[in-house]
Amino acid sequence: MAAVEVNDLTKRYSLRSFLARKGTEVLAVDHISFSVEEGEIFALLGPNGAGKTTTLKILATLLKPTSGTAKVAGYDVLAERDAVRKSIGIVFQEPALDTRLTGRENLDFHARMYGLPRSERKRSIEEVLSLVELEEYADVLVSKYSGGMRRRLEIARGFVHRPKVLFLDEPTLGLDAHSRRRIWSYIKKLNEEEHTTIMLTTHYMEEADFLCSRVGIMHNGRIVAIDEPEKLKSSFTEDILTLEIAWNDRSEEEKAIEMLKKFEFVRDFMQKEGYILLKVHHAEMHIAEILETASKVGLEVKSVSLRKPSLEDVFIQLTGKTLEEW
Ligand SMILES: Nc1ncnc2c1ncn2[C@@H]1O[C@H](COP(=O)(O)OP(=O)(O)OP(=O)(O)O)[C@@H](O)[C@H]1O
Ligand SMILES: [Mg+2]
Repeated sequence: MAAVEVNDLTKRYSLRSFLARKGTEVLAVDHISFSVEEGEIFALLGPNGAGKTTTLKILATLLKPTSGTAKVAGYDVLAERDAVRKSIGIVFQEPALDTRLTGRENLDFHARMYGLPRSERKRSIEEVLSLVELEEYADVLVSKYSGGMRRRLEIARGFVHRPKVLFLDEPTLGLDAHSRRRIWSYIKKLNEEEHTTIMLTTHYMEEADFLCSRVGIMHNGRIVAIDEPEKLKSSFTEDILTLEIAWNDRSEEEKAIEMLKKFEFVRDFMQKEGYILLKVHHAEMHIAEILETASKVGLEVKSVSLRKPSLEDVFIQLTGKTLEEW
Protein backbone atom coordinates (compact mmCIF):
# COMPACT_ATOMS: atom_id res chain seq x y z
CA MET A 1 0.00 0.00 0.00
CA ALA A 2 1.20 3.51 -0.77
CA ALA A 3 1.82 5.64 2.34
CA VAL A 4 0.81 8.77 0.44
CA GLU A 5 -1.27 8.88 -2.69
CA VAL A 6 -2.04 12.15 -4.40
CA ASN A 7 -4.31 12.41 -7.40
CA ASP A 8 -4.78 15.52 -9.51
CA LEU A 9 -4.55 17.75 -6.46
CA THR A 10 -5.13 21.49 -6.77
CA LYS A 11 -5.14 24.34 -4.26
CA ARG A 12 -6.24 27.80 -5.20
CA TYR A 13 -5.93 30.61 -2.67
CA SER A 14 -7.99 33.70 -3.10
CA LEU A 15 -6.32 36.82 -1.81
CA ARG A 16 -8.86 38.91 0.00
CA SER A 17 -6.59 41.43 1.68
CA PHE A 18 -7.49 45.06 0.99
CA LEU A 19 -4.16 45.43 -0.82
CA ALA A 20 -4.98 42.78 -3.40
CA ARG A 21 -7.05 43.58 -6.43
CA LYS A 22 -10.49 42.05 -6.31
CA GLY A 23 -10.55 38.50 -7.55
CA THR A 24 -6.82 37.87 -7.37
CA GLU A 25 -6.07 34.21 -6.98
CA VAL A 26 -2.97 32.10 -6.56
CA LEU A 27 -2.82 28.61 -7.95
CA ALA A 28 -0.42 27.28 -5.32
CA VAL A 29 -0.80 23.61 -6.26
CA ASP A 30 -1.58 22.87 -9.87
CA HIS A 31 -2.93 19.38 -10.63
CA ILE A 32 -0.22 17.28 -9.04
CA SER A 33 -0.20 13.50 -8.76
CA PHE A 34 2.39 11.33 -7.04
CA SER A 35 2.70 8.58 -4.49
CA VAL A 36 5.11 7.70 -1.72
CA GLU A 37 5.62 4.04 -0.93
CA GLU A 38 5.74 2.72 2.62
CA GLY A 39 9.25 2.96 4.02
CA GLU A 40 10.44 5.63 1.61
CA ILE A 41 12.08 8.96 2.30
CA PHE A 42 10.57 11.24 -0.30
CA ALA A 43 11.25 14.95 -0.85
CA LEU A 44 9.48 17.73 -2.59
CA LEU A 45 12.31 19.95 -3.74
CA GLY A 46 11.60 23.44 -4.97
CA PRO A 47 12.19 27.17 -4.56
CA ASN A 48 10.20 29.59 -2.38
CA GLY A 49 6.57 29.66 -3.33
CA ALA A 50 6.66 26.40 -5.29
CA GLY A 51 3.72 24.99 -3.32
CA LYS A 52 5.56 22.56 -1.03
CA THR A 53 4.07 23.68 2.29
CA THR A 54 0.60 23.91 0.78
CA THR A 55 0.88 20.30 -0.40
CA LEU A 56 2.07 19.10 3.02
CA LYS A 57 -0.69 20.99 4.80
CA ILE A 58 -3.32 19.33 2.62
CA LEU A 59 -1.80 15.92 3.36
CA ALA A 60 -1.77 16.72 7.08
CA THR A 61 -5.50 17.70 6.85
CA LEU A 62 -4.76 21.29 7.84
CA LEU A 63 -5.95 22.71 4.53
CA LYS A 64 -8.71 21.59 2.21
CA PRO A 65 -7.82 21.02 -1.43
CA THR A 66 -9.67 22.94 -4.12
CA SER A 67 -9.95 19.74 -6.17
CA GLY A 68 -8.42 16.31 -6.44
CA THR A 69 -7.90 13.62 -3.82
CA ALA A 70 -5.21 12.55 -1.41
CA LYS A 71 -4.79 9.57 0.86
CA VAL A 72 -2.36 9.15 3.72
CA ALA A 73 -1.77 5.73 5.30
CA GLY A 74 -4.72 4.54 3.26
CA TYR A 75 -7.14 7.17 4.59
CA ASP A 76 -8.75 9.97 2.64
CA VAL A 77 -7.66 13.42 3.85
CA LEU A 78 -11.18 14.82 3.59
CA ALA A 79 -13.45 11.90 4.44
CA GLU A 80 -11.24 10.27 7.10
CA ARG A 81 -9.52 13.23 8.67
CA ASP A 82 -9.20 11.81 12.18
CA ALA A 83 -7.72 8.54 10.97
CA VAL A 84 -5.16 10.50 8.91
CA ARG A 85 -4.28 12.65 11.91
CA LYS A 86 -3.68 9.60 14.09
CA SER A 87 -1.33 8.14 11.50
CA ILE A 88 0.91 11.15 10.99
CA GLY A 89 3.44 13.37 12.68
CA ILE A 90 4.28 16.81 11.39
CA VAL A 91 7.13 19.23 11.90
CA PHE A 92 6.17 22.67 10.63
CA GLN A 93 8.35 25.05 8.69
CA GLU A 94 7.74 27.69 11.35
CA PRO A 95 8.99 26.82 14.86
CA ALA A 96 6.10 25.61 17.01
CA LEU A 97 7.56 24.85 20.45
CA ASP A 98 6.56 26.37 23.73
CA THR A 99 9.80 28.06 24.79
CA ARG A 100 8.52 28.54 28.36
CA LEU A 101 8.49 24.78 28.85
CA THR A 102 11.40 22.35 29.01
CA GLY A 103 12.12 19.91 26.22
CA ARG A 104 10.56 17.06 28.17
CA GLU A 105 7.46 19.11 29.00
CA ASN A 106 6.95 19.94 25.32
CA LEU A 107 7.12 16.25 24.47
CA ASP A 108 4.86 15.29 27.33
CA PHE A 109 2.23 17.84 26.35
CA HIS A 110 2.22 16.53 22.81
CA ALA A 111 2.07 12.87 23.89
CA ARG A 112 -0.90 13.63 26.15
CA MET A 113 -2.72 15.29 23.27
CA TYR A 114 -2.33 12.05 21.38
CA GLY A 115 -3.72 10.16 24.37
CA LEU A 116 -0.64 8.04 25.06
CA PRO A 117 -1.06 6.20 28.38
CA ARG A 118 1.32 7.26 31.16
CA SER A 119 3.79 4.38 30.99
CA GLU A 120 3.99 4.44 27.22
CA ARG A 121 4.41 8.21 27.31
CA LYS A 122 7.36 7.98 29.64
CA ARG A 123 9.09 5.29 27.63
CA SER A 124 8.48 6.97 24.28
CA ILE A 125 9.74 10.33 25.52
CA GLU A 126 12.99 8.75 26.78
CA GLU A 127 13.44 7.00 23.46
CA VAL A 128 12.90 10.03 21.27
CA LEU A 129 15.12 12.19 23.50
CA SER A 130 17.88 9.67 23.07
CA LEU A 131 17.26 9.44 19.33
CA VAL A 132 17.95 13.16 18.87
CA GLU A 133 20.65 13.19 21.58
CA LEU A 134 18.91 15.67 23.85
CA GLU A 135 18.79 13.57 27.05
CA GLU A 136 21.09 15.98 28.87
CA TYR A 137 18.96 18.98 27.96
CA ALA A 138 15.60 17.36 28.58
CA ASP A 139 14.90 19.43 31.66
CA VAL A 140 16.25 22.72 30.36
CA LEU A 141 13.86 25.44 29.18
CA VAL A 142 13.54 25.48 25.39
CA SER A 143 14.22 29.23 25.44
CA LYS A 144 17.82 28.25 26.26
CA TYR A 145 18.13 25.84 23.30
CA SER A 146 20.09 26.69 20.14
CA GLY A 147 18.33 26.67 16.77
CA GLY A 148 19.68 23.21 15.97
CA MET A 149 18.53 21.81 19.33
CA ARG A 150 15.04 23.23 18.84
CA ARG A 151 14.79 21.59 15.46
CA ARG A 152 15.90 18.27 16.94
CA LEU A 153 13.30 18.57 19.67
CA GLU A 154 10.64 19.29 17.07
CA ILE A 155 11.55 16.14 15.18
CA ALA A 156 11.40 14.17 18.44
CA ARG A 157 7.98 15.66 19.12
CA GLY A 158 6.74 14.81 15.65
CA PHE A 159 7.64 11.21 16.33
CA VAL A 160 6.73 10.77 20.01
CA HIS A 161 3.34 9.16 19.23
CA ARG A 162 4.99 6.80 16.68
CA PRO A 163 3.26 7.90 13.49
CA LYS A 164 3.40 5.74 10.38
CA VAL A 165 4.12 8.76 8.21
CA LEU A 166 6.21 11.74 9.30
CA PHE A 167 5.97 15.04 7.42
CA LEU A 168 8.90 17.41 7.78
CA ASP A 169 8.57 20.88 6.28
CA GLU A 170 12.07 22.25 5.62
CA PRO A 171 13.62 20.30 8.51
CA THR A 172 17.02 21.98 8.32
CA LEU A 173 16.12 25.47 7.13
CA GLY A 174 18.67 28.00 8.35
CA LEU A 175 20.84 25.53 10.24
CA ASP A 176 24.61 25.29 9.90
CA ALA A 177 26.22 22.39 8.05
CA HIS A 178 26.99 20.45 11.22
CA SER A 179 23.45 20.67 12.66
CA ARG A 180 22.04 19.81 9.26
CA ARG A 181 24.10 16.60 9.06
CA ARG A 182 22.99 15.61 12.55
CA ILE A 183 19.37 16.03 11.60
CA TRP A 184 19.93 14.01 8.46
CA SER A 185 21.26 11.16 10.54
CA TYR A 186 18.18 11.21 12.82
CA ILE A 187 15.90 11.22 9.81
CA LYS A 188 17.74 8.19 8.39
CA LYS A 189 17.53 6.43 11.74
CA LEU A 190 13.78 7.02 12.03
CA ASN A 191 13.37 5.62 8.58
CA GLU A 192 15.68 2.64 8.86
CA GLU A 193 15.21 1.57 12.47
CA GLU A 194 11.59 2.60 13.07
CA HIS A 195 10.38 1.94 9.52
CA THR A 196 8.75 5.34 9.38
CA THR A 197 7.77 6.69 5.97
CA ILE A 198 9.12 10.20 5.70
CA MET A 199 8.00 12.93 3.38
CA LEU A 200 9.90 16.17 3.57
CA THR A 201 10.17 19.43 1.71
CA THR A 202 13.40 21.22 1.10
CA HIS A 203 15.11 23.69 -1.13
CA TYR A 204 18.51 22.23 -0.40
CA MET A 205 19.63 20.09 -3.31
CA GLU A 206 22.18 18.17 -1.28
CA GLU A 207 19.57 17.35 1.36
CA ALA A 208 17.24 15.76 -1.18
CA ASP A 209 20.16 14.00 -2.84
CA PHE A 210 21.60 12.59 0.37
CA LEU A 211 18.42 11.52 2.13
CA CYS A 212 15.84 10.52 -0.36
CA SER A 213 14.94 7.42 -2.27
CA ARG A 214 12.92 9.61 -4.63
CA VAL A 215 12.58 13.32 -5.23
CA GLY A 216 9.79 15.35 -6.82
CA ILE A 217 10.98 18.66 -8.23
CA MET A 218 8.26 21.21 -7.65
CA HIS A 219 8.02 24.48 -9.49
CA ASN A 220 5.10 26.94 -9.82
CA GLY A 221 2.70 24.48 -8.20
CA ARG A 222 3.60 21.60 -10.49
CA ILE A 223 5.80 18.58 -10.17
CA VAL A 224 8.10 18.93 -13.16
CA ALA A 225 10.12 15.76 -12.58
CA ILE A 226 9.99 12.87 -10.17
CA ASP A 227 12.48 10.04 -9.77
CA GLU A 228 15.43 8.66 -7.81
CA PRO A 229 18.11 11.36 -7.45
CA GLU A 230 20.61 9.33 -9.49
CA LYS A 231 18.13 8.82 -12.32
CA LEU A 232 17.19 12.49 -12.36
CA LYS A 233 20.83 13.38 -12.65
CA SER A 234 21.65 10.89 -15.36
CA SER A 235 18.57 11.39 -17.50
CA PHE A 236 18.41 15.16 -17.56
CA THR A 237 21.85 16.58 -17.95
CA GLU A 238 25.12 16.08 -19.65
CA ASP A 239 28.44 16.02 -17.87
CA ILE A 240 30.27 19.28 -17.49
CA LEU A 241 33.78 19.22 -18.94
CA THR A 242 36.06 22.16 -18.26
CA LEU A 243 39.08 22.84 -20.49
CA GLU A 244 41.79 25.25 -19.53
CA ILE A 245 43.51 26.48 -22.68
CA ALA A 246 46.69 28.54 -22.98
CA TRP A 247 45.39 31.58 -24.85
CA ASN A 248 48.51 32.79 -26.60
CA ASP A 249 46.75 34.93 -29.18
CA ARG A 250 43.24 35.70 -30.39
CA SER A 251 43.29 33.25 -33.27
CA GLU A 252 43.24 30.43 -30.75
CA GLU A 253 39.82 31.39 -29.56
CA GLU A 254 38.47 30.96 -33.09
CA LYS A 255 40.35 27.67 -33.45
CA ALA A 256 38.78 26.36 -30.26
CA ILE A 257 35.28 27.38 -31.33
CA GLU A 258 35.74 25.80 -34.77
CA MET A 259 36.96 22.58 -33.20
CA LEU A 260 34.13 22.33 -30.68
CA LYS A 261 31.44 23.01 -33.27
CA LYS A 262 32.60 19.95 -35.21
CA PHE A 263 32.10 17.51 -32.34
CA GLU A 264 28.54 16.28 -32.50
CA PHE A 265 28.78 14.99 -28.90
CA VAL A 266 29.29 18.54 -27.60
CA ARG A 267 25.75 19.68 -26.77
CA ASP A 268 26.68 23.19 -25.73
CA PHE A 269 29.71 25.20 -24.71
CA MET A 270 30.58 28.56 -23.20
CA GLN A 271 33.65 30.52 -22.21
CA LYS A 272 34.00 31.54 -18.62
CA GLU A 273 36.98 33.32 -17.07
CA GLY A 274 39.50 31.85 -19.49
CA TYR A 275 38.04 28.35 -19.31
CA ILE A 276 35.77 26.58 -21.77
CA LEU A 277 32.84 24.71 -20.27
CA LEU A 278 31.34 21.95 -22.39
CA LYS A 279 28.16 20.00 -21.92
CA VAL A 280 28.93 16.50 -23.12
CA HIS A 281 26.98 13.29 -22.82
CA HIS A 282 29.22 10.58 -21.27
CA ALA A 283 32.16 12.97 -21.31
CA GLU A 284 34.70 10.40 -20.13
CA MET A 285 34.35 8.65 -23.50
CA HIS A 286 35.33 11.76 -25.45
CA ILE A 287 38.17 13.35 -23.50
CA ALA A 288 40.90 11.59 -25.52
CA GLU A 289 39.40 12.68 -28.82
CA ILE A 290 39.06 16.28 -27.68
CA LEU A 291 42.69 16.39 -26.52
CA GLU A 292 43.97 14.78 -29.69
CA THR A 293 42.08 17.17 -31.95
CA ALA A 294 43.14 20.15 -29.85
CA SER A 295 46.77 19.24 -30.24
CA LYS A 296 46.34 18.72 -34.02
CA VAL A 297 44.90 22.20 -34.49
CA GLY A 298 47.66 23.66 -32.32
CA LEU A 299 45.78 24.38 -29.09
CA GLU A 300 47.59 23.88 -25.81
CA VAL A 301 45.23 22.37 -23.23
CA LYS A 302 46.62 23.04 -19.75
CA SER A 303 44.06 21.11 -17.77
CA VAL A 304 40.84 19.13 -18.10
CA SER A 305 38.27 18.49 -15.41
CA LEU A 306 35.07 16.52 -15.48
CA ARG A 307 32.09 17.13 -13.24
CA LYS A 308 29.04 14.92 -13.04
CA PRO A 309 25.76 16.84 -12.98
CA SER A 310 24.23 17.68 -9.62
CA LEU A 311 20.55 18.07 -8.78
CA GLU A 312 21.19 21.81 -9.14
CA ASP A 313 22.06 21.28 -12.83
CA VAL A 314 18.88 19.23 -13.23
CA PHE A 315 16.90 22.04 -11.68
CA ILE A 316 18.46 24.64 -13.98
CA GLN A 317 17.72 22.49 -16.99
CA LEU A 318 14.06 22.14 -15.98
CA THR A 319 13.34 25.68 -14.92
CA GLY A 320 16.01 27.81 -16.60
CA LYS A 321 17.30 29.25 -13.32
CA THR A 322 19.21 28.22 -10.23
CA LEU A 323 17.26 27.71 -7.01
CA GLU A 324 18.70 30.93 -5.62
CA GLU A 325 17.56 32.95 -8.62
CA TRP A 326 13.91 32.11 -8.08
N1 LIG B 1 -2.62 31.36 3.13
C1 LIG B 1 -2.29 31.79 1.90
N2 LIG B 1 -3.04 32.68 1.25
C2 LIG B 1 -2.74 33.07 0.02
N3 LIG B 1 -1.67 32.64 -0.69
C3 LIG B 1 -0.88 31.75 -0.09
C4 LIG B 1 -1.13 31.26 1.23
N4 LIG B 1 -0.17 30.37 1.57
C5 LIG B 1 0.65 30.30 0.49
N5 LIG B 1 0.25 31.12 -0.50
C6 LIG B 1 0.86 31.27 -1.84
O1 LIG B 1 0.89 30.00 -2.45
C7 LIG B 1 2.10 29.78 -3.13
C8 LIG B 1 2.78 28.53 -2.58
O2 LIG B 1 3.15 28.75 -1.23
P1 LIG B 1 3.80 27.63 -0.32
O3 LIG B 1 3.97 28.21 1.04
O4 LIG B 1 3.04 26.38 -0.45
O5 LIG B 1 5.21 27.45 -1.04
P2 LIG B 1 6.54 26.73 -0.52
O6 LIG B 1 7.01 25.92 -1.65
O7 LIG B 1 6.31 26.07 0.77
O8 LIG B 1 7.53 27.96 -0.33
P3 LIG B 1 8.68 28.21 0.77
O9 LIG B 1 9.91 27.53 0.25
O10 LIG B 1 8.83 29.69 0.77
O11 LIG B 1 8.22 27.68 2.08
C9 LIG B 1 2.91 31.04 -2.96
O12 LIG B 1 2.70 31.83 -4.10
C10 LIG B 1 2.30 31.69 -1.74
O13 LIG B 1 2.44 33.08 -1.79
MG1 LIG C 1 7.14 26.23 2.61
